[in-house]
Amino acid sequence: MGIVELISVVVLLGGLCAESKYMVYNTSAGIDAGKINVHLVPHTHDDVGWLKTVDQYYVGSNNSIQGACVQNVLDSLVPALLADKNRKFIYVEQTFFQRWWRDQSELTQTIVKKLVSSGQLEFINGGMCMHDEAVPHYIDMIDQTTLGHRFLKEEFGVTPRIGWQIDPFGHSAVQAYLLGAEVGFDSVFFARIDYQDRIKRKKEKSLEVIWRGSKSLGSSAQIFAGAFPEHYEPPPGFYFEVNADSPVVQDNVDLFDYNVQDRVNDFVAAAIAQANITRTNHIMWTMGTDFKYQYAHTWFRNMDKLIHYVNKDGRVNALYSTPSIYTDAKYATSKSWPLKIDDYFPSCKCLLDRILYK
Ligand SMILES: *[C@@H]1O[C@H](CO)[C@@H](O)[C@H](O)[C@H]1NC(C)=O
Ligand SMILES: *[C@@H]1O[C@H](CO)[C@@H](O)[C@H](O)[C@H]1NC(C)=O
Ligand SMILES: *[C@@H]1O[C@H](CO)[C@@H](O)[C@H](O)[C@H]1NC(C)=O
Repeated sequence: MGIVELISVVVLLGGLCAESKYMVYNTSAGIDAGKINVHLVPHTHDDVGWLKTVDQYYVGSNNSIQGACVQNVLDSLVPALLADKNRKFIYVEQTFFQRWWRDQSELTQTIVKKLVSSGQLEFINGGMCMHDEAVPHYIDMIDQTTLGHRFLKEEFGVTPRIGWQIDPFGHSAVQAYLLGAEVGFDSVFFARIDYQDRIKRKKEKSLEVIWRGSKSLGSSAQIFAGAFPEHYEPPPGFYFEVNADSPVVQDNVDLFDYNVQDRVNDFVAAAIAQANITRTNHIMWTMGTDFKYQYAHTWFRNMDKLIHYVNKDGRVNALYSTPSIYTDAKYATSKSWPLKIDDYFPSCKCLLDRILYK
C-alpha cells in the first residue's frame, strides 16, 4: 500500500468512525436538469504584486499592509480537498503556484498530482499572472501565458481549458480571440465591464455571450464569455473566510443559534435572483476573493453544509463545481447566445471599487 492509499484509508476510516457520532454531509450532488443549478466555484485571487510585493504576498510578511499569505492558502488547501473527494478548487496564478511547488516534499507533490488528475484541483487561466488587457503588448501576454502553461504541461500533463480574467479593468477583443479562442480556451470569465453595460445586460440576460473578437477570423476564433453579475466574490452573506461576518451555518438543533432554515432560504433567494438574469438553469457563484482560503476549511465546512441542506430542501440544486464543469453544462443546454464583437472598454473603476471595498 502506497502512502497516498494509506492516507485515503485513514481518511475513510475516520469518516466511518465519525458516522455514528457526527453529522456526515452529502456533498455528492451533480447537475439536476430540472432545477436551478448553483455551481459553487471555490477560488482565491492572488495578485502577483499589488499592495505588497510578490515576495511579501507569498511568505505572508508585512501583514499590516494587507493580511495575505499565499503559502497559507496552498498549504491549507491540500488537507481540505483530501477530507472530501467532492470538494473542488481552482488555482490560477502560476508565479505563486510554481514557487510553492518547489518548496513541497515528494509526498505532497504526489498527493497534489492525484488531486489534479481526479479533477478536484484544476488549473485555469494558467499564466504566470492574470495580465491586464488594456496596457501590455500582446507579445508579453502570449509569453507569460506560454511560460505558465508549459510548466503545467510538463509537470502535470494538463492544459488549462478556461480563461479567468476576473480582476483586469476592462477586457480587450484581443483577449477573446488571441489569448482566448486561439489559446484553446473553451470560455473566458471576467468581472469588470462598464456599469451601464452591465445594467443593460442583466435586463436582457446577456451577461453571457459568444464573443467574436476578430473581424478577420470571425466565428473561427469565437469564445463563450461570461461577465459576472457583480464582482468575483460570493453573493452577500456567503463569505466564509476566518473573521468574515457572514452567518456561519449552525446545524446543532440543541443550540439557540441554529439557523439552517434561514441560511437555506437566503441561499434559495440569492439563487433565484441570479437565475432571473441568466440564460439556462445554470448559475455560477464565485466562492472566494483576493488572497482567501488562508484557512481553507472554514469555506469548505460551510459549503458542505449548504450543499447538504439546500439539496435536502430541494427547491434548487447546489453542487461543487469548476468553470470547466459550468461551461460544459452551458454547452450541453444547446441554447443560443447573444453575439458580442469589439472590446469591453472602458470600465468604470470607481463604481466597482466602491462595491469591492465597501
Ligand atoms: C446525496 O445527494 C444526491 C443528490 O443531491 C442524491 O442523489 C444521493 O442519493 C444522496 N446520497 C445519500 C446517501 O443520501
Ligand atoms: C516590510 O517588513 C520589513 C520587515 O519587517 C520592514 O523592514 C519593511 O519596512 C516593511 N515594508 C513596508 C513597506 O512596510
Ligand atoms: C426578475 O426580473 C424582473 C425583471 O427585471 C424583475 O422585475 C423581478 O423583480 C425579478 N425577480 C427576482 C426574484 O429577482
